[in-house]
Amino acid sequence: MNADPFRCISWPVQPPLPADALVLAPMVSLSHRALRELILRFGGMDLAFTEMASAGALVSESPYDAWYLDAEPEPAKTILQFYTTKPGRLAEALAMVADKPVFGVDINFGCAAPHIKRAGGGAAWMREPEKARDLVALARAAWPRNLSAKLRIGPEEDYGALRDFAQGLIEAGIDFLTLHPRLEDEKFRRKSRWDYVGRLAAELPVPVLGNGDVRSFSDWTRRRTEAAPAGVMLGREAVRRPWIFALLRGREASPDFALEVKLRDTAFDFLDLLEARLPADMHLTRARKFFFYYADNATYAHHLRWKLQNAPDLPAMRTILDAYFEEVPQDRVRLERD
Ligand SMILES: Cc1cc2nc3c(=O)[nH]c(=O)nc-3n(C[C@H](O)[C@H](O)[C@H](O)COP(=O)(O)O)c2cc1C
Repeated sequence: MNADPFRCISWPVQPPLPADALVLAPMVSLSHRALRELILRFGGMDLAFTEMASAGALVSESPYDAWYLDAEPEPAKTILQFYTTKPGRLAEALAMVADKPVFGVDINFGCAAPHIKRAGGGAAWMREPEKARDLVALARAAWPRNLSAKLRIGPEEDYGALRDFAQGLIEAGIDFLTLHPRLEDEKFRRKSRWDYVGRLAAELPVPVLGNGDVRSFSDWTRRRTEAAPAGVMLGREAVRRPWIFALLRGREASPDFALEVKLRDTAFDFLDLLEARLPADMHLTRARKFFFYYADNATYAHHLRWKLQNAPDLPAMRTILDAYFEEVPQDRVRLERD
């Protein structure tokens, strides 16, 4: 007899977090199926978060949330991220995704976008530890598989408050958490504070993923040594260099590892995937967002970024890319080591 019949019916085994996991971060307009498939062409990552979807919008059948929550091509490695302003909405949304064979669901406690915080979602929950705990307890009851939380440090530098907040969520039932160690309203100019990751990872009884400013093999090695997280999540660098996960694993296996990357072809592959996997009215915004970061690979990054940001459609982007790589042929292929 199994003591927990709910778990045993459809999900007999709860997959554990892969050891030393490399994880794609949730990023609005960026962490979609086309990006995951592009990364997969280089070998993939251990786990990937979707961009955050609004539980309320999903429940009210907004046309876009189904796309945000598309877990293909590797649902078993995908974590659906939700933000919510009301606990009941999250429970309803979880019932709606119950059939998806995903790795898990994550609750966003870190988004500091003013309209979301004002409505009581994202980082606003970190100011209400009791309510956040109740939210997790409700989600736990509604969702039998992996349940995680993504946090920032909180409204101010107070390690004890952060630890207590995290401890409350753990008692309410989360299986692991991710810390992006910046304060609630801090922008990317301020460095992430990885000492907070190290302390949480050492003190909490669940795995803690660390996230923030990991851009190279050197960064990854340093953060793992200093903070010993259960895994590392990468956001912007995975857009800038969709091959970064392959590079990290390759360098880990051999210090001589180098990856030959076709910059031009990768850009075109991305546009093809975007057209194949997302609806037409999402193409231009997603392409602009992707190239905002990817253009950093070009020798004349400023120039290429500006042109792509102003392109009216994807065919125009292809023309701009063709012209750029004709003019700067040395940028077509690059050898990456760090
Ligand atoms: C464009 C953009 C969108 C983001 N959207 C989300 C989101 O939907 N949910 C979330 O928890 N964090 C979001 N974040 C934060 C990232 O997940 C991550 O915590 C942050 O970028 C730091 O990691 P990085 O330095 O590796 O980029 C977003 C970040 C960026 C740049």
